[in-house]
Amino acid sequence: MQVYLNGRYYSREEAAIPVIDRGFLFGDGIYEVIRVVNGRLFRLEAHLKRMDRGMKGLEMPFSEKQRAELPGVMEKLVADNRLQKGEGTIYLQITRGAALPRTHAYPSAETPPTVLVMASPFVPDKEILEKGGHAITVPDIRWARCDLKTINLLPNVMAAQEEKKRSAGGVLMIRDGYITEGYKNNVFAVFDGTLWTYPDSPYILSGITRDVVFEIAEKEDIPVKLSPISAKEILKADEVMLTGTITDIQPVVSIDGRRIGMGHPGPVAKLLQRGLRQRMDTE
Ligand code: PDD
Repeated sequence: MQVYLNGRYYSREEAAIPVIDRGFLFGDGIYEVIRVVNGRLFRLEAHLKRMDRGMKGLEMPFSEKQRAELPGVMEKLVADNRLQKGEGTIYLQITRGAALPRTHAYPSAETPPTVLVMASPFVPDKEILEKGGHAITVPDIRWARCDLKTINLLPNVMAAQEEKKRSAGGVLMIRDGYITEGYKNNVFAVFDGTLWTYPDSPYILSGITRDVVFEIAEKEDIPVKLSPISAKEILKADEVMLTGTITDIQPVVSIDGRRIGMGHPGPVAKLLQRGLRQRMDTE
């Protein structure tokens, strides 16, 4: 496996960062995960725009030149790692770089950022996409800037561990009585033919897949309502689903042991799955 680190290509075993990197010491960085389908980077520009917003929010210096190099780096890694056919992902991480002394405040703007890009094969979980998952809820214990895709992921990691421990298929996080999102995906619910999802806010990450869902809904004349759904109300939904770059559109057929709708993937989820697949295969 070849990876890119700060202007050079290395084997994954060889690539290393200094122990004083602020990503390592403070979690001071952002990341993106981009889907690769038959060698093409799905919605790359949307991911880079979200990265720009994150870097701006964190005042991370990054030159036009550095940004302009990223697509070429990703394409080279896709080719060198033989991902021109089938499914894969690109992982991009940018940290505020290596700086001493260890002080919390940002170091000089001249500090070079650490830029890491990796490409890996990806196998979608066909069974859960077809049959749906049995989800659980957990308290959303994250901070109040979930709109920034930072590498501070411990609450997400803990939610994922809870899912694993309980052999669940999906996690819905609850803040102030409302479902915000999953630990790696956004949440949608269908009530009487209308798709509901949490509005853009500092409490969720605005997903690229979420935007694709809006696009498909518009084309298919499915009304969308941007509104928080309470943890109680969601149990009465006709359908619930999770959406994300490595989730695709995953139906949720029960939440905390309570059946959702008819207890199997519904027509809206299936229609959205087809719409996403078609876009991933042809764009
Ligand atoms: N996660 N919400 C959270 C908290 C996420 O971490 C993600 C993505 C999403 C969905 O965003 P998108 O549709 O752009 O993938 C929503 C990535 C894939 C991850 O952490 O692996």
